[in-house]
Amino acid sequence: MKHLIDILDFSVEELQELIDTANDIIDHPEAYSERCKGKKLATLFFEPSTRTRLSFEAAMYELGGNVIGFSEAQSSSAAKGESVADTAKVISCYADIIAMRHPKEGAPLVAAMNASIPVINAGDGGHNHPTQTLADLLTIHREKGRLSNMTVGFCGDLKFGRTVHSLINALSRYEGIKVVLISPEELKLPSYVKKDILKEHDIPYVQTSDLESVMPDLDVLYMTRVQRERFFNEEDYLRLKDSYILTPDKLNNAKSDLSILHPLPRVNEISVEIDSDPRACYFKQVLYGKYMRMALILKLLKEAGKL
Ligand code: CP
Repeated sequence: MKHLIDILDFSVEELQELIDTANDIIDHPEAYSERCKGKKLATLFFEPSTRTRLSFEAAMYELGGNVIGFSEAQSSSAAKGESVADTAKVISCYADIIAMRHPKEGAPLVAAMNASIPVINAGDGGHNHPTQTLADLLTIHREKGRLSNMTVGFCGDLKFGRTVHSLINALSRYEGIKVVLISPEELKLPSYVKKDILKEHDIPYVQTSDLESVMPDLDVLYMTRVQRERFFNEEDYLRLKDSYILTPDKLNNAKSDLSILHPLPRVNEISVEIDSDPRACYFKQVLYGKYMRMALILKLLKEAGKL
């Protein structure tokens, strides 16, 4: 059974296949409108979400399928103490595929080990968010025409930002990637990501706290929110939350073809004045996320012999 728990579950060829399918869906949506007729997606969200849950639901509806699920742990039997393993076994009796978000790192993996249907990690704690990475890859591919030979800056909360960890993992397999890590000292990229991904793949990287000094080098700027829900104390969050606020003046020395991405939600780290800058890609990124999730559902259902 093929699942998507970590972006490395897919080879570079499989990622390209998903990008190609998503592009085809964008061009020919009518050809896909009944592909999942009679199939059910279960969205099991133990943590808040707007984009991921609703884009999964929109994706399944646009494929002609149906959706069941819950959007908070309190409205499921997890509130009575049911385990993730039992939940996965139960949902396997009702649905054809699961998308799960959970605050505990590794929970979707436990679900995958116990389910008899494909499981998709829709975000686990501060660990991974592989379907956001699919959205990010399609956005970069459509903006740049490639996923190789570029300098990508990650700015903000690189410690708890699971989207950052997953995207660095994905990009580590492409040629000519350079990484610039921009964060306050307390929110630096975890050393396991540096050691296991950047050093392991010989990816050149620099660390700095000064966004403006590295701006001219960047082809892609990946802004992130400081993840309030992962902090142990509110005082630290309040001190760090506005470490970076991207305003038009900060783009004065940026490349004219810079692509600005953000997984959203945005709190304060990108000024709304940037939204009308042609380099702002974050709302396109939201839309592309739906198409990549359509491509992903199709692939996993096909591989499970359900289509
Ligand atoms: N990017 C993202 O995961 O957004 P949500 O938390 O709204 O799903």
